[in-house]
Amino acid sequence: MNVYIKTYGCQMNERDSESAAAMLVSAGHRIAGTEEEADIVILNTCSVREQAERKAIGKLGILKKLKRERPHMIFGIMGCMAQSRGEELLKSVEHLDFAVGTDNIHAIPEIVEEIVRKKRKIRCDDRRGADTPGIDAHRINAEQGQFSAFLSISRGCNRYCSYCIVPYVRGPERSRDMDGIVAEARSLADHGIREIMLLGQNVAAYGLDGVPPPIAEDNSPFSELLERISAIDGIRRIRFTSPHPAFFNRKLIETIARLPKVCKCIHLPLQSGSDRILQRMNRPYDAEHYMNIIRSLRELVEGINFSTDIIVGFPGETEEDFEATRRIMREAAYDNAFIFKYSPRRGTVAAKMPDDVPQEEKERRNALLLRDLAEINASRNRELVGKTFEVLAEGPSKRNAARWSGRTDTFKLAVFPPSPGLKPGDFVRVRIERATPMTLYGSIEG
Ligand code: SAH
Ligand code: SF4
Ligand code: F3S
Repeated sequence: MNVYIKTYGCQMNERDSESAAAMLVSAGHRIAGTEEEADIVILNTCSVREQAERKAIGKLGILKKLKRERPHMIFGIMGCMAQSRGEELLKSVEHLDFAVGTDNIHAIPEIVEEIVRKKRKIRCDDRRGADTPGIDAHRINAEQGQFSAFLSISRGCNRYCSYCIVPYVRGPERSRDMDGIVAEARSLADHGIREIMLLGQNVAAYGLDGVPPPIAEDNSPFSELLERISAIDGIRRIRFTSPHPAFFNRKLIETIARLPKVCKCIHLPLQSGSDRILQRMNRPYDAEHYMNIIRSLRELVEGINFSTDIIVGFPGETEEDFEATRRIMREAAYDNAFIFKYSPRRGTVAAKMPDDVPQEEKERRNALLLRDLAEINASRNRELVGKTFEVLAEGPSKRNAARWSGRTDTFKLAVFPPSPGLKPGDFVRVRIERATPMTLYGSIEG
């Protein structure tokens, strides 16, 4: 049958959709490009903010029409909402056939078969270890120019940041076996992958077996993992997301600085620059600790840059707290920041605090941070004019097919005229001639 999977939420979900697709293909199904061509539609859902849940529920409503036109169709949900609200949704949405939780992706092909045979609703949400079957299943299309892949190194999260629903839906943190991860990376390299993005809710806690911070400065199994993946010949670039600042120790800083394949672009979620708010968020670090990580890395690695996640309008966030966040924003001089308006999530500790920052104020703080970011970007990008960077070529640029785009090691988007015979996944040296806040423009150095 033809299967269409639509993914909401984070890269973990994207990765899970890919392994679901790979397992469905192994079971004899085909992946469709649109829901209209599909016999089976699966929504891979996210619960992190209310808006994310609303989108998936809205989509489920729209899909009802397809079911009326083509009654043989099968509809399923997977991912975080399927884990936390699967039961309820199976009851309330008549045309929904299955809800598969975040640890049971490998069960999807069997579930589909059973629904075809018996026409009954199925829910599956039990918890499992990190190395679930099929967690290493990929769909790599090197002929189509794919050179980059996601690799999940752990499941779940133990941090319980007070605003966050993820630990409740994804379950406790479980690290995968290191040899298995390295074998998966090697196999990706053999299939033409040059760049790997390691994924986990807190990658810096990889292999620490759930020990809470503070972490000893020299204890970092994640550093060992970076080291081992670095040793794989075909892999040229390693990225990762996200490390929790309280787990970012000396060993990890030195490893990042030492290994040339580890990209010099670090996503380091700040959430708030106010120590008082960080405490209420159950984020066990302060602004000083956070800035020390950034300063140490800047000292050791020339040209390194940072991105972050910030929440505005957390319960009790005053103007003063917000100004503390703006200060860190400027000090850290981020190249990118994902800014979120606080959204209360049921069952979390913060959901019991009054959501007392009015919506308009959340909007205002959000807009101010975005404006600050644009200013920082404009000045940082201007400084790059005249410099030369190694760029991993991706293909024709979206805006102008006569030019190609690619990413620098620091994840900057560079646009340049292609050289003859250039293929996606090739490395070129691009000299930057002009910059906007979002993009660098240049030419390949001959
Ligand atoms: N584990 C990752 C983040 C996963 S969720 C990490 O810690 O970096 C991605 C981001 O969503 C978080 O970093 C946070 O900024 C934001 N987020 C999580 N819960 C939220 C909520 N209730 N309201 C608004 N933003 C939220
Ligand atoms: Fe959520 Fe915090 Fe875990 Fe990230 S570290 S997933 S923000 S609980
Ligand atoms: Fe959303 Fe689940 Fe990711 S809640 S952000 S899809 S871990």
